[in-house]
Amino acid sequence: MSAKFHFINHACFILEKNNSAIIFDPYLDDNPEGLTAKDIKVDYIFVSHGHFDHLDSAFEIAKNCDATIISTAEICGLAQDAGCKAHAMHLGGTFKFPFGKVRLTLAFHGSGVPGGHACGIVIDFYGTKLYFAGDTALFSDMQLLPKLDAFEYAVLPIGGNFTMDPNDALIACKLLQAKYVIPVHYNTWPPIAQDVEAFKAAVEDETDSKVLIVKPGNTIDID
Ligand code: NI
Ligand code: MN
Repeated sequence: MSAKFHFINHACFILEKNNSAIIFDPYLDDNPEGLTAKDIKVDYIFVSHGHFDHLDSAFEIAKNCDATIISTAEICGLAQDAGCKAHAMHLGGTFKFPFGKVRLTLAFHGSGVPGGHACGIVIDFYGTKLYFAGDTALFSDMQLLPKLDAFEYAVLPIGGNFTMDPNDALIACKLLQAKYVIPVHYNTWPPIAQDVEAFKAAVEDETDSKVLIVKPGNTIDID
């Protein structure tokens, strides 16, 4: 059975499978479907770090849906203080949720909260296996990730300025060796404007990965 990958905008997407859903980095500003927090129905919320374009609507959605926030201990502490359900983890930690295994990964980026650290995630959501890098610089330890957990999809920031740009993300693709790469965190604002078609061409020329360009507001089926 395939999963639905619903790209909302920026680095925010929903994975839906088995009548269950998880939203990643719920940032809803300017999304083309005009979705607001009350439109989002999910069971879990992953937050990579505390910058506004990732944490944004997380607490409101968590309260509306009685959903569980999965993030670092620092973000989860804030979530619990705000009255939300949360499952705290930290970098390198793994846990088996009812849907499958989660590993929080390194991400080299600001935490957005005192004492914290940004993270990424490798998730097995009812058999759909995906790495979401969050916001990060390129780092060579990305090559370890496919040795630790199998995943077919890599969701990577390519916007530059705050994160990897397309050139660095191309190197990330070589390290990660995912079957499919989904670029995010680009074209939201002028400083992160990028030519995603050129990125796709370069990745498909130089690696065995296929790049899936999903427009904000669109949903694709993934394995
Ligand atoms: Ni950030
Ligand atoms: Mn960001």
